[in-house]
Amino acid sequence: DWTADSFVETTIAALKEKLGDDKVVLGLSGGVDSSVAAVLLHHAIGKNLYCIFVDNGLLRKDEFQSVLDSYQHMGLNVRGIDAKQRFYDALSGLSEPEAKRKAIGRVFIEVFDDAAHEVQDVKWLGQGTIYPDVIESVSVKGPSATIKSHHNVGGLPDFMKLKVVEPLNTLFKDEVRRVGKALGIDDTILGRHPFPGPGLAIRILGDVTPEKVAILQEADAIFINNLRSAGVYDKVWQAGTIFLPVQSVGVMGDERTYENVVCLRAVESVDGMTADWCHLPYDLLAKISNEIINNVKGINRVVYDISSKPPATIEWE
Ligand code: XMP
Repeated sequence: DWTADSFVETTIAALKEKLGDDKVVLGLSGGVDSSVAAVLLHHAIGKNLYCIFVDNGLLRKDEFQSVLDSYQHMGLNVRGIDAKQRFYDALSGLSEPEAKRKAIGRVFIEVFDDAAHEVQDVKWLGQGTIYPDVIESVSVKGPSATIKSHHNVGGLPDFMKLKVVEPLNTLFKDEVRRVGKALGIDDTILGRHPFPGPGLAIRILGDVTPEKVAILQEADAIFINNLRSAGVYDKVWQAGTIFLPVQSVGVMGDERTYENVVCLRAVESVDGMTADWCHLPYDLLAKISNEIINNVKGINRVVYDISSKPPATIEWE
């Protein structure tokens, strides 16, 4: 019978055996999978695991620092790299979703590779690949695999001639969470909503600027904090805020405003392949809308996405 405790025990022993005194580099994303993979590897090889956490400037408000703090708190050997400007430069002028994804993937590989080269004699690349990722990347089924190019699986550049170690590649998501719990990883990491690799870049429709990112981070933080304080965060599978490429008229005091619109998106799902929009309470939506419009400069209208997947997707790009 599969149990998280026995998985942890046998996997750590197998990793020790496989890796010996070899060094491993691993890119942390802040998500559940890479975090659990890192902690398992850390138990097996300690300081020979070199974690790299890249700030692409497209994470949620304050997320880079708070996640980096919790990784350090867990004792991981982790290096945080501020690459915000490199990502913003690469995104400048791009508005097509796949072009944005490709630019982000390319810069990530460059930044990661630079950092990996600084680890002398590294032999392995650690990855948080889970079983559904393996299936999705070898078959051509699944709308998210075929319609959008995901960047968190495979795609190793030629110049990184590392062997790959993927301790979670036989597990499903719920098993990864159970393993994470058995390892004592904090709920703030294990209970996190899924978040796309390209981050807020695909939640800003059209071209991405640091100013739009800053506005979206503020609005999104209000949305997410309200879901938490209303006690619904854990019932929602994924939530986020989308910056729409439209301006609309509003009034503020005696003034006519002509500003941006954000859309709130919250869905229920099991695996992200299908999803229903969440019937959030009207009172909660009203509170979030007021808080955003009153506090986030540049936003004068908030809308709620009531589309399910299919035929809509969870993300707008
Ligand atoms: P869609 O929008 O296809 O999203 O319904 C399904 C799930 O996949 C996530 N998603 C991505 N994750 N890179 C990622 O790592 C991507 O480019 C990407 N696009 C969508 C999305 O957030 C949802 O959880």
